[in-house]
Amino acid sequence: MSKNILVIGSSNTDMTVKTKELPRPGETVLGGVFTMGPGGKGANQAVAARRLGGDVKFICKVGKDIFGDNAVAGYAAEGLDTSGIIRSELPSGVALISVDEHAENCIVVASGANADFTVADVEASRKAIEECSILLLQLEIPVPSVVAAARMANEAGAQVVLNPAPACELPEELFKYIDIFIPNETELSTFSGMPVSDADSAAAAARKMQSMGVGRLIVTMGSKGALIVETDGSTVFVPAKKVKAVDTTAAGDTFCGALCVAVSEGKSLEEAAQFAAAASALTVQKMGAQNSIPFRSDLN
Ligand code: RIB
Repeated sequence: MSKNILVIGSSNTDMTVKTKELPRPGETVLGGVFTMGPGGKGANQAVAARRLGGDVKFICKVGKDIFGDNAVAGYAAEGLDTSGIIRSELPSGVALISVDEHAENCIVVASGANADFTVADVEASRKAIEECSILLLQLEIPVPSVVAAARMANEAGAQVVLNPAPACELPEELFKYIDIFIPNETELSTFSGMPVSDADSAAAAARKMQSMGVGRLIVTMGSKGALIVETDGSTVFVPAKKVKAVDTTAAGDTFCGALCVAVSEGKSLEEAAQFAAAASALTVQKMGAQNSIPFRSDLN
């Protein structure tokens, strides 16, 4: 039987426009079709884990508005356990996303209710945190709440997985609670203070993170693949599938959700990273965040 996964994190409504080139500061560009859909790194990772076969509970904070109502209804329809979702007096989170013809994106998030996810909310979620086997976190809710949740899960014996996106200042205390750390190259460079441009420099930076307390790392390296760094510092490189990307939004989120599912099924980290790479290769071939996240049957 697979272990249960708890995702605590953000929920946004994504408003996306496809454009030939991303605008430079002060510039207006004419884009293509506008789409609106569910997003947020926490929600994307929870939906990915659920669609790929995980037993998943999602805790987030949304406003008492139409975006919040739609989001919660959508998560329930996905089969997520939504019983821990909290309502805020602040408006629900919104993300403004531009995607260029090379599938690169540029995202501005109005955090709203996500920024109102307090340490008291973590305390109110204690039962779910203490009952989970794997806790998956990102950084779109306040850092003190991420630290409190990670500490609580670690003390209860759960595996803590952190996707440190978007990068921001983190207290060193957090690192010792993290069993699996999944940064991209830029995030790894920020947290380690070391340049990261290839597998060797990523491995060196990952070992520095391990000296700060982190357990295992998987460094996602976009279209190149992902580098696993085990606790003894040894590495395995998992190449990405070669596909034609149209939108990379939620590719990293799919990777993290998929990875947790595979780990929850008892797969090795290498097998889990291969499964995650296959899932995110499908995500990049479609526009949108949750709209593009595959189901388990799509992977066969
Ligand atoms: O990782 C992609 C997500 O980042 C989007 O869905 C957007 O909401 C932002 O949170």
